[in-house]
Amino acid sequence: MPTIQALVTLLRAIAVIEMKHPFYTVVESDFSAVNQFIIENLNSHVPLVEEISSYLIDAGGKRLRPLLVLLTARACGYKGQQHINLATIIEFLHTAMLMHDDVVDASDLRRGKKTVNATWGNPASVLVGDFLHSRAFEMMVEIGDMGVMAILSHATNTIAEGEIQQLTNIRNPDITENDYIQVITRKTAMLFQAASHTGAVLASATAIQQESSKQYGLHLGLAFQLVDDVLDYKGSTEDLGKNVGDDLAEGKVTLPLIIAMRNSDSQSVNFIRQAILKGGVENLGEIADIVNNTGGLQYTMDLAEREIDKAIECLTHLTDSEFKNAMTSLANFSVNRSF
Ligand code: IPE
Ligand code: IPE
Ligand code: MG
Ligand code: MG
Ligand code: MG
Repeated sequence: MPTIQALVTLLRAIAVIEMKHPFYTVVESDFSAVNQFIIENLNSHVPLVEEISSYLIDAGGKRLRPLLVLLTARACGYKGQQHINLATIIEFLHTAMLMHDDVVDASDLRRGKKTVNATWGNPASVLVGDFLHSRAFEMMVEIGDMGVMAILSHATNTIAEGEIQQLTNIRNPDITENDYIQVITRKTAMLFQAASHTGAVLASATAIQQESSKQYGLHLGLAFQLVDDVLDYKGSTEDLGKNVGDDLAEGKVTLPLIIAMRNSDSQSVNFIRQAILKGGVENLGEIADIVNNTGGLQYTMDLAEREIDKAIECLTHLTDSEFKNAMTSLANFSVNRSF
């Protein structure tokens, strides 16, 4: 059961990062405008749509993807106002994906609250997800930039492919590191990449700046999902606001598990294979110990660090500014986070 305390902890954590981290403070007024714009654009003729979408959106979340839009646009010298719309669109796409993801993953805790599917059922979660997704596209048309539209339509299509590819990999203990990287590139890194890429496109940045902004988002997104998959084994449900152990529960083979099998004796390999085939959290404690003791978590963190180094390297192509510095902090936060 999600507790009030879990929610309070999450809200406090958000307040702390907002106060401390330059990636929020340098775009503070833009960030407030996005939060306002999000609320204004949730309107619907059907009351249940607003009720459900506000439920998840009011819970906050870190809002890293909209921040990425704001920071990249500003770092590339953007002076207009449409980055507010673009950041909102990206957060709507992300929220829609979470509503679908929690159905697919049968998750019952998100942002410290019961998930939409656990509260209103799977059909409502899928359909309100569709509403947010299509509202994002309506808002994209209003921006009227075919470059932005091309990136975002390709991104959402690729993310869907990644989620389906992951579905076909479920309960398969023979998934390789390469298979895993393909999935996370599509399902997660793609939206980070689209956020930073469109921010640069909107700012009419030079070709090299657009490309390096795009690559920055890709590497950041890869690191972000690698860390998410580590936290699914060793994080705290209270800090994360979502259940740890969901990946093993659904028989999802992530990098920590792949490395654990690579480094284990045959008895442990067999134990892990059985857990993947069976799913469930029955052996979570034991598997988490094996994953930790065989270096599965460390290997995954090391890879995340390397991706962050690559992301920061991409920033050398942007002009020095407080926004660019904030993008470095955002990258470092993504690998040092506990929520
Ligand atoms: C969750 O993303 C989905 C993943 C790609 C792991 P976040 O951790 O950014 O979720 P919120 O928006 O902060 O809740
Ligand atoms: C998230 O992957 C990918 C999405 C595209 C939503 P997860 O399934 O690991 O995300 P969480 O852990 O539920 O947030
Ligand atoms: Mg999930
Ligand atoms: Mg998932
Ligand atoms: Mg996860």
